[in-house]
Amino acid sequence: GTQWGDEGKGKVVDWLTDHAAAVVRFQGGHNAGHTLVIRGVKTALQLIPSGIMRDGVACFIGNGVVVDPAHLLGEIGRLEAIGLDVRSRLLISESCPLILPFHAELDRARERLRETSGTGKIGTTGKGIGPAYEDKVGRRALRVQDLKHPERFATKLRELLELHNFALVGQLGAAALEFEPIFDAAMQAGQSLRPMIGDVGYALHKLHERGANILFEGAQGTLLDIDHGTYPFVTSSNPTAGAACTGTGIGPTRIDRVLGVTKAYVTRVGEGPFPTELDDDDGRRMMERGNEFGTTTGRQRRCGWLDLVALRYAVRLSGVTQLALTKLDVLSGFDRVRIAIRYRDRDGQALSDFPYHQTVFHGCTPEYEELPGWHEDLSGCREPSDLPPRARDYVDAIAAAVQVPITLIGTGQGRHQVIDQVEI
Ligand code: GDP
Ligand code: IMO
Ligand code: MG
Repeated sequence: GTQWGDEGKGKVVDWLTDHAAAVVRFQGGHNAGHTLVIRGVKTALQLIPSGIMRDGVACFIGNGVVVDPAHLLGEIGRLEAIGLDVRSRLLISESCPLILPFHAELDRARERLRETSGTGKIGTTGKGIGPAYEDKVGRRALRVQDLKHPERFATKLRELLELHNFALVGQLGAAALEFEPIFDAAMQAGQSLRPMIGDVGYALHKLHERGANILFEGAQGTLLDIDHGTYPFVTSSNPTAGAACTGTGIGPTRIDRVLGVTKAYVTRVGEGPFPTELDDDDGRRMMERGNEFGTTTGRQRRCGWLDLVALRYAVRLSGVTQLALTKLDVLSGFDRVRIAIRYRDRDGQALSDFPYHQTVFHGCTPEYEELPGWHEDLSGCREPSDLPPRARDYVDAIAAAVQVPITLIGTGQGRHQVIDQVEI
């Protein structure tokens, strides 16, 4: 994802899975919401790789992902209910940190506190992602492998619960959580997940040795990156491409290509700066035509014009070699379309590169290039030559500005609504 998430990664991954032996999630958790529409049926995936929708493809959850066992079982159950065989195709890393009930409690209680104290909330998904990653880097997390050892699990859980109850009650005015229900639920989930737990890094290494194509599926987006994003309005992992290595155990020299997924306009859920955000009929039109409501939280997404300063930054950070431009069909019907080509900071200085200082970024206003719009319906376009000339000009202008070829274009929500020239 090259923006603030929801670029259409799930659909692109599902489409490309046709060429893959395996699909791997490497960061984030069930804060992600990847929506696929296959033969008119909508499926939302949060933790399980989008490759699960193609028979015979192996799916992996790498060590960089934070796993809520209760959620994972629910998601597996929902996929089984629509006839998918998940259990024989999914392998979960032993090293994934667990998200347990107190993480979500902490996440939500902190958001409430930020709101009432005037610090301002982040607008998290409330799934416990941040607190779970804190425990990981704090070297006190319970991990998937601990589910196999009830006694060790109980000891660690007691310590962790004591720590977090202290904050919940003492600082956040929330209720303390009980040990027993958390322990029992985790042990039960552990039993059920056990056959799916293993050494993901080794399995990927073996697949790679055999020459198999492996697809790494990012969640969230570049500007939500904990290091490179619009801190503190970010998530707690690295959605940039480098995390595909650290989050799975595959070395950087093994990655051949990086496909950046970008929407033809920009959306953002939650709080934080967004230079090209629109509060007018154009923005409402994007929201309505693009059905911009969150997959995971149902929140309305903020909408704005495409931002080339941010897109160039995303290309740089992830070493993007080709771009997928999704939801081009949503822009049909505008008399003119705009793309931000540079920012002006508070002092009126022009910035072509993404500012590294958050205070500068907060004060930036975009400068636009305007292109003529198009009114044709793109939903049936399957070849570049099917696109009306003005839509093609828009695509070409983006590719030229970021110096990366656009090899996939989304022309509708359905699985096959793409113009595909991806280099595999
Ligand atoms: P992700 O989080 O990046 O996987 O994206 P989401 O699934 O949260 O949001 C993207 C939404 O746009 C989903 O509802 C997709 O089905 C839909 N979508 C993806 N590509 C296209 C496209 O090219 N055109 C249209 N109209 N919808 C698309
Ligand atoms: P996908 O994979 C869009 C946002 C939240 C909030 C911030 C921090 O579907 O693109 P968190 O719960 O992660 O601590 O929230 O990050 N956020 C997303 N926004 N798409 C996502 O995932 C997101 N995952 C987290 O809205 O602003
Ligand atoms: Mg999403």
